[in-house]
This record gives sequence, C-alpha cells and structure tokens, in this order.
Amino acid sequence: VEARLGQGPLAGKRILVTSGPTHEPIDPVRYIANRSSGAQGTAIARALADLGAEVVFVTGPAEVAPPEGVEVVPVQTAQEMMQAVEAALPADAAVFAAAVADWHVQGAGDRKLKKSKDGLPSLSFAENPDILKTVSQRGEGRPPLVVGFAAETNDVLAHATAKRERKGCDWIVANDVSPATGIMGGRENAVTLITETGAEDWPRMGKDAVAARLAERIAAALA
Ligand code: CTP
Ligand code: CA
Repeated sequence: VEARLGQGPLAGKRILVTSGPTHEPIDPVRYIANRSSGAQGTAIARALADLGAEVVFVTGPAEVAPPEGVEVVPVQTAQEMMQAVEAALPADAAVFAAAVADWHVQGAGDRKLKKSKDGLPSLSFAENPDILKTVSQRGEGRPPLVVGFAAETNDVLAHATAKRERKGCDWIVANDVSPATGIMGGRENAVTLITETGAEDWPRMGKDAVAARLAERIAAALA
C-alpha cells in the first residue's frame, strides 16, 4: 500500500468513487435497499489505487469489504452519500458506481411502526438527490472527468445514451442487469462504455478485469 503511493500513471490524481447500495430507513429497525453487492465499485477503487491514485471511496452498506489503501467514507442513505461526495470534492475524476436509491421514505421517525387493528401502514416517498447529475452539472469544482453507470434491464444502449445526456456526465458505463444475465450480484460484467465519441462493447469478463480496463482508460484520459 505505502509502496504504490506516488507511483503509477495516476500518481498525484485524486479520484472519488461511489459504490454499494444505499439503505433508506422506514423506521429505526427497517429499511429499503437494493441488490447491489458493491463488487464493481470496490474493484474500480482498487484498480485506481493500484495505478497510484489517491482514492476517496464513498460506500453504502456493501457485501464486499472495501479495498486497502483508499480513504473509506461509509454512509447509509442517499442523502448522506450526497453530503460525503460534496465534502470529498474537488477531485480530478469521479466514478459513480453506487446503486443509489431513487426515493426515501418520508417521515421515517425514531419509533418502530406497530401492527394495528386499524389497517396496514402506507409509505410515502420523496425523491433523493441525484448525486451524479448534481456533480456533473456543477459549474465550479466539477471534476474534469465524470463517469456514471447505467444499469438497465432493456434497451440498454438507448437508455444509457439518453442517461448520459440527461445527467451531463462525460462517460457512461452501461450494463444489462436483467435477471437472465446473472450480472447483478455476480462476479462478471458485460459493459458498454459510452463516451463523447461513441459506444464500445467490451466482452463479458470478471468485474476486476472491467475495473482494470476502466482504470487504464481513466489514466489515459487524465494524462
Ligand atoms: N445516481 C446517483 N444518484 C442518484 C441516482 C443515481 O448518483 N440518486 C447515479 C448512479 O450511481 C449511476 C447513475 O446515476 O452512476 C445512473 O443511475 P440509474 O439508477 O441508472 O439512473 P436514474 O437516473 O436513477 O434512472 P432510473 O433508475 O430511472 O433508470
Ligand atoms: Ca435509479
């Protein structure tokens, strides 16, 4: 860990990575989550650190352990992730691999919901901050390279291309997470990298290999 600091093509570069799911409380003992394991974001943070970057790793409650040699900022909710990201800027690049919950439960309080003869509880939702979009559309302090992910179950290229435009990020790493692919929660990934110059299909490979290839591309872009 010490040995690689200051060495490699990303030496002297500060890179922010978000990863993992978020947990949105319903009450003090229950939450809404998603199936992200954090594996791809963790592999990306490790690959960037291996190339010498100073990595700030903002992570929700992931199944996999964070990498060695990065600054780990653990968060639970999307709102906490937004604050941690703001606090971590400025950076030379930012990679938004987290599966951020789109909504939080309104009025989640400090008392457990109880069963009642009077009927079932109902939850109402409010929208979470869009972290990728907020950072992409920042004027001052926008990282020179902003990379988002687009996990889609259908029409992957069309949805991901539209997402890149809508968010204002530089690159989108798109993947098909429909159940038949086994990618969500699995060890492999098959991605399409969408940049300002077009879309590139990468062959299906291990998440570590996707991470290494993406880290190399980031190093080339920042060089
Ligand atoms: N993202 C984010 N903050 C959010 C939601 C998403 O930073 N509140 C980021 C993700 O980390 C990812 C990208 O935005 O890099 C795309 O996430 P995705 O869920 O695919 O996009 P949404 O805009 O939420 O669209 P939808 O879920 O409706 O497809
Ligand atoms: Ca979403």
